[in-house]
Amino acid sequence: MFDAISPAPPDAILGLTEAFKSDTCPQKINLGVGVYKDNMGLTPVLKCVKEAEGRIEAEQTTKNYLPMAGSPDFGRLTQKLLFGEDHEVISSGRCCTAHSPGGTGGLRVGAETAKGFSENASIWMSKPTWANHKGIFGNAGMAIKEYPYYNPETRDVDWDGMREVLGKIPAGDVVLLHVCCHNPTGVDLIPDQWQEVADQAKARGWIPFLDFAYQGFGEGLGEDAAPLQPFLDAGVEMFIASSYSKNFGLYCERTGAITMVGKTADDARAGFSHMKVCIRRNYSNPPAHGGAIVVAVLDDETLCSVWEEEVATMRDRIKDMRSALVQGLKGRGVDLDFSFIERQRGMFSFSGLRDDQVDWLREEKSIYIVKGGRINVAGVTTANIDYLCDSMAEVFGA
Ligand code: LMR
Repeated sequence: MFDAISPAPPDAILGLTEAFKSDTCPQKINLGVGVYKDNMGLTPVLKCVKEAEGRIEAEQTTKNYLPMAGSPDFGRLTQKLLFGEDHEVISSGRCCTAHSPGGTGGLRVGAETAKGFSENASIWMSKPTWANHKGIFGNAGMAIKEYPYYNPETRDVDWDGMREVLGKIPAGDVVLLHVCCHNPTGVDLIPDQWQEVADQAKARGWIPFLDFAYQGFGEGLGEDAAPLQPFLDAGVEMFIASSYSKNFGLYCERTGAITMVGKTADDARAGFSHMKVCIRRNYSNPPAHGGAIVVAVLDDETLCSVWEEEVATMRDRIKDMRSALVQGLKGRGVDLDFSFIERQRGMFSFSGLRDDQVDWLREEKSIYIVKGGRINVAGVTTANIDYLCDSMAEVFGA
């Protein structure tokens, strides 16, 4: 069976990490995969997580299976984080949440569930989008279409192009939207634009699928969730895939969620029963540890405020590195306006580097950047920024 198979191409993002690991250059920098690093270049276990793990270890009495959707407390606390306490969508029972293996698992389960509901629905994605989105939705059998999103000239959202295409998408199709910290561009919609997108979803009857992987990395935990409100107010059906990989640093614990919002509680319950069938057939039930950490932190006022501070520290460090990068390039006489790097939000910056420049930086300088020019700003530290700016200035011909 396997002898006629040629190897699959390396993953656009994770493949870079493999190449980085085998690079022996002492100055190498990995700006590829979206993982937070502190100023020492380490991806720390958060203090609140360590504390929670201690409690879990002391109190855990069983390794029995979780329910297919994970623990009910995990679902309850995830909804509170997404929508705010006592929101109508929670009290009315219009939303149901499953703990998924990471945000990726949530996307996959949501995709397969949507495909099951509507065999012919296409999925519309921003151009560009996260490299794995097409694989996930394509493997779930959905036809992939694109809407314009990024204008390289203005380095902002191509709002005219986007709204025109969203205004033509047929009822029943699914539209994937990044709630904050758009991956890969770092460029987000503004509140009026979100309102118009929600109005379009309602008027046209297409289904929003909100990918919310970076809550807390834009402006704040509550601020970043604001784009959900117009959709909730519109009363439309939707999927929300969220992730605790970044904001809890729980990368390897595969802790995310998929939430379905229905027009009524009955709709949500019926839809969710199919989602649970999908979960059962894929991985049966989620791994417990990461979910238990999230519950232990979010359900404890003191631990929760430690967590909020730790998220703010990560967010602020990335913003500082954005400014340092802009100053560093300016200081080296690069005659281009890089102020857009400071306007972008979240981990990523669409640097404007062309693919041949990305290749040159990897081959000549051992600096690893995703094709398309996406830089993980969280990988920049005070120790590597000079080498990075020198190398980028060389590329940009300063
Ligand atoms: C990224 O975009 O780098 C992250 O979401 C990690 C991943 O799985 O690709």
